Amino acid sequence: MMEVLILPQDVAAELVARHILTLIQHKPDAVLGLATGSTPLPVYRALERLIAEWEVDTSRVRGFALDEYVGLPEGHPQSYRAVITREVIEPLRLTPSQIRVPNGATETIKDAPAEYEAEIAASGGVDLQLLGLGGNGHIGFNEPGSSLGSSTRVKTLTAQTRHDNARFFPSEDEVPRHCITQGVSTILKARHLVLLAFGESKAQAVAAAVEGPISASNPASALQLHPHTTVLVDEAAARHLSNAEYYASSYRNKPDWQAL
Ligand code: GLP
Repeated sequence: MMEVLILPQDVAAELVARHILTLIQHKPDAVLGLATGSTPLPVYRALERLIAEWEVDTSRVRGFALDEYVGLPEGHPQSYRAVITREVIEPLRLTPSQIRVPNGATETIKDAPAEYEAEIAASGGVDLQLLGLGGNGHIGFNEPGSSLGSSTRVKTLTAQTRHDNARFFPSEDEVPRHCITQGVSTILKARHLVLLAFGESKAQAVAAAVEGPISASNPASALQLHPHTTVLVDEAAARHLSNAEYYASSYRNKPDWQAL
């Protein structure tokens, strides 16, 4: 089941953060799926504030990042390991061993995908997976054309994604050409998927993901197959949804007992 909530970005971030902390209160060793990119940052900031306010014990929480660039030198500030350390591990006062990120070192890349899949499986599986949305419909780094049955593997980044992510590097040429990413089927194994997308630049991708045909050309459309997906978008990102009014009225009339 896919539920679509149309909310201002700050309200959506607060709602998701509260939901994550409630999950941790009920399951202190919850496994979180973490996303990079700018979209989930307000959720991480809300978590930082609420963990202190609610005095939540996060010492047993575990987490898995979706993806990583291949071949960046260790400690590179734009490696997703570094981003997750800066944006999640340090502000949320977690220890680095609580959060796993795929290993993008070229020397060990051959074995890294299977090892990552095994680690996720050994954790008992992801309870809640945060997802951003690429302008071309990618989730993690599953670019258009990714098999919907894919597991963690090495992928080649599209020219568009390298262009989109060039803002984080001194030049587009320095954006890595390859990545290691959880596959679409890996992502679908998480028990609850939470997709966030804000701003007009995501509007086409949101409409295709939520209402478009399910297709490898649009990996985010696979989320329609999941029994529990929550999509949080603002008005701008909801612009091309044909059923926006219906989603809004379902949310307004949602029974109190129904959680996110
Ligand atoms: C990146 C990441 C994705 C992210 C997406 C959108 O390439 N690999 O996980 O969801 O792009 O990024 P942003 O949230 O900055 O728009």
